[in-house]
Amino acid sequence: MFEDLRQDIDRNLADYGPLSPVKRFLLCLTLNSIHVVVLIRLQFWCARHRIPTFFVAKILFWFFKIEVSSKAVIGAGLRLPHPMGIIIAPFSQIGRNCDLYADVRLVLSHGRKQGPVLEDGVFMGDGAKAVGAVRIGQGATIGVSAVVTRDIPPNAVAAGIPARVLTSSRSTEP
Ligand SMILES: CC(C)(COP(=O)(O)OP(=O)(O)OC[C@H]1O[C@@H](n2cnc3c(N)ncnc32)[C@H](O)[C@@H]1OP(=O)(O)O)[C@@H](O)C(=O)NCCC(=O)NCCS
Repeated sequence: MFEDLRQDIDRNLADYGPLSPVKRFLLCLTLNSIHVVVLIRLQFWCARHRIPTFFVAKILFWFFKIEVSSKAVIGAGLRLPHPMGIIIAPFSQIGRNCDLYADVRLVLSHGRKQGPVLEDGVFMGDGAKAVGAVRIGQGATIGVSAVVTRDIPPNAVAAGIPARVLTSSRSTEP
């Protein structure tokens, strides 16, 4: 938990450049993105140790309208710049160093027990959604309000409903 959380915090603070320990501490106290990754990792820690996750899950929902299933898998370095309205369904998998903006949803298709898989370094723009057992390839960018219903190749930029590949490679960081 702690190593994953350390990497989450580092990625969420990366935009602020080099920080003194005091500034880092103050940002950790004030930034919503840090509060949310702490709560998500705490929820996973409780689930792993068979401690009820109810209270942590409720805090995430009440304050941020975020629901994360303890049956999802989330790699280290999770970055949540505007953490609200995010839903991560059971059996979803998120690789390392992914970015999820506000209102991102990873949801199941009806009756299926396999959620979306985001490989490492995926960027899910504001309101982007992935439905069912789709795989979004390493380093792919999913545009604002896209709905991903089919696999997206690595490094592709995709957008629209249903999401279509706009370009097959991401040249610069968004
Ligand atoms: C998908 C995205 C990465 C594409 O950026 P881009 O490569 O610069 O592409 P362009 O803006 O040149 O647009 C290319 C085409 O895709 C369309 N397009 C771009 N974004 C789209 C979207 N979200 N949904 C539907 N179509 C989109 C454009 O209208 C354009 O169509 P055209 O060729 O028919 O004119 C970008 O639009 C996006 O959504 N970024 C995420 C932003 C975000 O979530 N930021 C976080 C909050 S700050």
